[in-house]
Amino acid sequence: MFKCVKKENHYCNLVNGQWMTTENTIDIFSPSDNSLIGTIPQMSQDDVDKIIKYAKESQNSWSDVPVSKRSEILHKAATLLEENCDELSKVLMMEIGKDINSSISEVKRTADFIRFTADAGKNLEGETIAADTFPGFKKNKMSLVQRVPIGLVLAISPFNYPINLSASKIAPALVGGNSVILKPPTQGAVSALHLIRIFQEAGVPDGVINSVTGKSSEIGDYLVTNDNINFINFTGSTEVGKHIAKIAGMVPMIMELGGKDAAIVLKDADLDDTAREIVSGAYSYSGQRCTAIKRVLVTEDVADELSSKILEQVKKLTIGTPESGAKVTPLIDKKSADFVEELIQDALSKGAKLLYGNKREGNLLHPTLFDMVTSDMRIAWEEPFGPVLPIIRVKDKDEAIEIANKSQYGLQSSVFTRNINDAFYVANKLEVGAVQINNKSERGPDHFPFSGVKASGMGTQGIKYSIEAMTRLKSIVLTID
Ligand code: NAP
Ligand code: G3H
Repeated sequence: MFKCVKKENHYCNLVNGQWMTTENTIDIFSPSDNSLIGTIPQMSQDDVDKIIKYAKESQNSWSDVPVSKRSEILHKAATLLEENCDELSKVLMMEIGKDINSSISEVKRTADFIRFTADAGKNLEGETIAADTFPGFKKNKMSLVQRVPIGLVLAISPFNYPINLSASKIAPALVGGNSVILKPPTQGAVSALHLIRIFQEAGVPDGVINSVTGKSSEIGDYLVTNDNINFINFTGSTEVGKHIAKIAGMVPMIMELGGKDAAIVLKDADLDDTAREIVSGAYSYSGQRCTAIKRVLVTEDVADELSSKILEQVKKLTIGTPESGAKVTPLIDKKSADFVEELIQDALSKGAKLLYGNKREGNLLHPTLFDMVTSDMRIAWEEPFGPVLPIIRVKDKDEAIEIANKSQYGLQSSVFTRNINDAFYVANKLEVGAVQINNKSERGPDHFPFSGVKASGMGTQGIKYSIEAMTRLKSIVLTID
């Protein structure tokens, strides 16, 4: 699909409608077999200046394009994405080591997302407000309130959903009349650049959508502190998110960051269903999801039974290469695998009971399950982003809530119980963006609001919410004499 001026499997950036490369390039290797996937440009700060200039200049004319036309272009992009699903899902699988079925789902989900966004953009409405409802004002004045674009959106996406979490920023920004610069993750850039190509082919005008790849240490801070950026839409780690929020200055942003989602299990839960949900939530894509279940808080009376049912499910997990469709595949890189191993060793050294796993072959970590995890262990608090799950036993729902809320994170939590009063009691007290009742934590469906509190982020994603965040209210006040 891609042709680039440099050489076979070199992927260029889209800058003002042209596919551009640089002298220096970055090699992208597959996390599962270390084969070379391709090379990407290593852009400089000068390149960033040019991209920002073009993106800024093109925004006005894009905002003049009728929303119905913008929506039509997005529909075309969704269709193209689906037509290229085979190729894209393979690229995704190779580049980020996501199993083939989940890679196909990511592409299809993204097409659905773009289509839904295209329609939602047409439903954005303004309002008129009469002045005479406020004391001292007469009927002769009114405010005509409408949504207008915010300007130039900088979208920064993470490695684990390079297509979906890029598109979920780009599509709402575009339908809202903004121009966009995508800074994809380096590992994931090849997939994301295919997506950019699709938006271009669908008819997004030159300069309205652009991409920039390179070393974050060279261009990251430079990009986020540029005065011409009007909105930063970031998904990634809490560490990088906090850093960007500190240096970026007075620019609105959405930050979707890390998580330590708890599954709280009460004594009357359906333990078979609960165990299945927990294992699917904790281990799919080897736990490399912000919404993965990252700890189980179970009341002592059912802890033995639950842990053996979870163990039963963990043993059924398939382990292997992404091509084989296995659920547990090699982690994204050695550094990540080393980190997960550190957490496992710490738990073992402090007396956690290993029920399964703790086996490593290169970057492939076998699914690992611990029981009897206590609050002095790092695995009780830190986000592993790998296939390891701690079970923490609690005396009752209040202790579960207390431990859940002690985390620095606040993305999602689940509560498993047949008692609706207990479900709401727990849900109301949890300090998170969303609570799932009798379900694993997860972002979708994508038109639901998705947000984190505390170190898990700020602002809200979700189709309508993303469009609202990347547009602003502007009012024109009419006074009739
Ligand atoms: P990451 O290391 O924070 O990277 C995220 C993005 O930020 C990448 O594109 C990265 O580019 C870029 N970046 C790094 N430093 C930057 C800087 N100074 N300025 C501008 N951009 C910079 O995160 P990751 O490892 O890709 O993703 C895993 C993390 O993301 C986990 O903590 C996970 O929980 C979180 N996450 C959260 C959500 C959510 O919705 N809450 C969703 C997915 C993932 P390079 O790759 O070039 O460094
Ligand atoms: O990794 C973070 C994603 O936002 C999680 O999305 O729940 O659909 O896997 P997901």
